[in-house]
Amino acid sequence: MSELSVKHLLGIKYLNEKDIQLIFETADHFKEVINRSIKKVPSLRDITIANIFFENSTRTKLSFELAEKRLSADVINFSSGQSSVKKGETLIDTVNNILSMKVDMVVIRHPNPGAGIFLSKNVKAAIVNAGDGAHEHPTQALLDSYSIREELGDVRGKNVVIVGDILHSRVALSNIFALKLQGAHVKVCGPKTLLPRYIEALGVKVETNLRKALNWCDVANMLRIQSERLDISYFPTTREYIQQFGVNKALLDSLDKEIVIMHPGPINRGVEITSDVADSKQSIILNQVENGVAIRMAILYLLASKIK
Ligand code: CP
Repeated sequence: MSELSVKHLLGIKYLNEKDIQLIFETADHFKEVINRSIKKVPSLRDITIANIFFENSTRTKLSFELAEKRLSADVINFSSGQSSVKKGETLIDTVNNILSMKVDMVVIRHPNPGAGIFLSKNVKAAIVNAGDGAHEHPTQALLDSYSIREELGDVRGKNVVIVGDILHSRVALSNIFALKLQGAHVKVCGPKTLLPRYIEALGVKVETNLRKALNWCDVANMLRIQSERLDISYFPTTREYIQQFGVNKALLDSLDKEIVIMHPGPINRGVEITSDVADSKQSIILNQVENGVAIRMAILYLLASKIK
């Protein structure tokens, strides 16, 4: 029987191509399940999962919770804002207290890079990284690649440009790892101040001219400026950023070919993309969200099969 090469999902960097194909094939099955009139299966009936979020989230938190419920897992939710973390409790103490209630898996979002890795070494549960600072967001990258595969038939050989704040983006790093593993060609595009200096070492190319980048690509993954992680100003004004790196409908319509527009959300409408681009027929933004549930069901199911 096929199984993942890992016991935790800490980052795409720990996966191989076979893992990704297995996750996609499993997600295909679950996507069919969640489109039935009875959307629930008993696969994780004896598994308890804690979603612990130390950072804000809409899509990831709801998508994991729905995925867990569709698989019939027992689910508990923890948000740091309403917890005893405010009274000084450490991450390990918090998680060990949750685990003593007989929890099997922990889905964690945390502002500090490596929080999931740290937990995986210090607590007895399968850990799923739901975003750790500016490090990785593996489930987002998997659902992004899955959505490209669904839209264009395959990821291999496709030209994908990631546009925006690459420096502070966990989505960018996880996408680069995932796309390269699957044989896509990847470029990054943004202000030089928001591109990591040695990014080409990851096998990607840099293009600072947005029109050129868009004319080259099959898919543009538009990222927002991670304002919550900016300590200084990385570009003169938002208006100038929009002029150079924002995609509007006139620009989209003037390209040599029809490209696919993606965005992990949340969108800052009118900054990285205008509303008419976000809501255009070329946008697959809501397909990404839909696919997120099937991808997360697949990951939880495959990881749970290793702890049973
Ligand atoms: N894409 C994403 O991670 O969105 P949330 O922050 O709303 O979970």
